[in-house]
Amino acid sequence: MTARCRPILLLVALVLAAWSLGPGGHLAAAETKAASLYLVGVGPGDPDLITVRALEVLKRAQIVYCSPGIREKFATELQGKEVVEGFWRLFPYYGKDPSTLDGQERAEAEELAAKRKDFTARVRQAVAAGKTVAILDNGDPLIYGPWEWCLEEFEDLRPVVVPGLSAFNAANAAIGKGVTTSERTKAVILTSTDWPGKTDTIERLAAHRSTMVLFTMRAEFDDFIRKLSAAYPPETPVAVVQHAGYQGKQRVLRGTLGTIREQVGREPLPFEYLIYVGDFLSHRYKKP
Ligand SMILES: C[S@@+](CC[C@H](N)C(=O)[O-])C[C@H]1O[C@@H](n2cnc3c(N)ncnc32)[C@H](O)[C@@H]1O
Repeated sequence: MTARCRPILLLVALVLAAWSLGPGGHLAAAETKAASLYLVGVGPGDPDLITVRALEVLKRAQIVYCSPGIREKFATELQGKEVVEGFWRLFPYYGKDPSTLDGQERAEAEELAAKRKDFTARVRQAVAAGKTVAILDNGDPLIYGPWEWCLEEFEDLRPVVVPGLSAFNAANAAIGKGVTTSERTKAVILTSTDWPGKTDTIERLAAHRSTMVLFTMRAEFDDFIRKLSAAYPPETPVAVVQHAGYQGKQRVLRGTLGTIREQVGREPLPFEYLIYVGDFLSHRYKKP
């Protein structure tokens, strides 16, 4: 090796080392085998939308935390594992001191803090005993994920995130159009119902007239449509995608902001549905 090559090789080695640690200090894929704690996205819809990597981690895990729905969906893969339910939705008030709250809020925050304490103690005990622990979440765990807080709580254990397909990906496929392709915009805003304290309300975001995808949670359909209608014209295309990723159950209802309320009717919508708004829904490369 010539003396002139040495600095270049050193630089390449440094870049590779930094890359393998990633921006948050998490380990690169090749090194994940040694991890003790995983946050795993299992995808939306049918079980075959889980990734090969997630299945590999599931195989290795001895203790698995998940919802009853995920347990049922992956009953075969979870056989022989210690599966723990009952710790779903522990995120509210995380990072807040309950004593700074009042009344009902304070009572709820205290109850959740006690439950989180129990959960974190169990996980730490398991990891200390040399067990591999996996927390399973629907879709991608970092898109409106109820377990995100764990990454902060267990930072010292260097948890590894296994990405999952989001309901967003499955719904795009159900619609069958390029979600970033339209005449007027190339941007997609993922958002949800208006949460207290957040300034980027649906009405404000809608003013950009970008494509919007709403993760609806349990909020009122009429409320979403009313807020969107404040900025988009009534002829703007809309799609309501229910049960994305479930073959035989998935449903796409297409209309416009002006017609969609009537098309949806008064039947209650399921928890699993997304609202899409934007011209990409009617985009065609070939003009008539
Ligand atoms: C707490 S968020 C979880 C999102 C999840 N982490 C993901 O990446 O898909 C739940 C919301 O996601 C949407 N959702 C989840 N699964 C869905 C599905 N299969 N079809 C349509 N929407 C879905 C719904 O809007 C639901 O209210």
